[in-house]
Amino acid sequence: MKRIVFSLLIGISIMYVGCENTATEVDIEDPNTNECTPQFPEMDVTYDNFVKGVMDQYCISCHFTGNSPGPGDFTNYNGVKAASGFFAARVISDNADMPQGNAPLSQSIRDSLNIWIGNCSPRN
Ligand code: HEC
Repeated sequence: MKRIVFSLLIGISIMYVGCENTATEVDIEDPNTNECTPQFPEMDVTYDNFVKGVMDQYCISCHFTGNSPGPGDFTNYNGVKAASGFFAARVISDNADMPQGNAPLSQSIRDSLNIWIGNCSPRN
């Protein structure tokens, strides 16, 4: 009998800990994380009207799907958007090292990429 009570207690504590963990995970999730407010609402820089052309000309020779030298796939909107968090440091800043092995992008292209990201990377 003692054994049964003991196992029950352990069972209950495990369930309790389980619930605690679940509650913590829910708390950590912030529903506003994915919200983005465009910072340059008057500027019309989109993937379709600008970014795609830049990627096609300067980037997709290395960043394409499959066994490419560069990570990610910049041949489509979702691929570029997924990597855009790295663009500030690697592509837009004065210390940019992309496109790798080539001259940095012109200041005006870098400014426009910065606007695109600041505007939440619109597709069109
Ligand atoms: C000659 C090949 C080459 C070209 C062209 C090139 N890249 Fe890259 N890129 C790489 C390689 C290789 C890496 C991975 C090694 C590294 O991080 O330095 C990389 C990494 C990156 C990263 C970091 C990604 C990550 O997940 O950490 C970004 C962002 C990036 N490139 C953007 C660009 C953009 C934008 C262009 C076009 C303007 C471009 N690259 C052109 C080869 C290239």
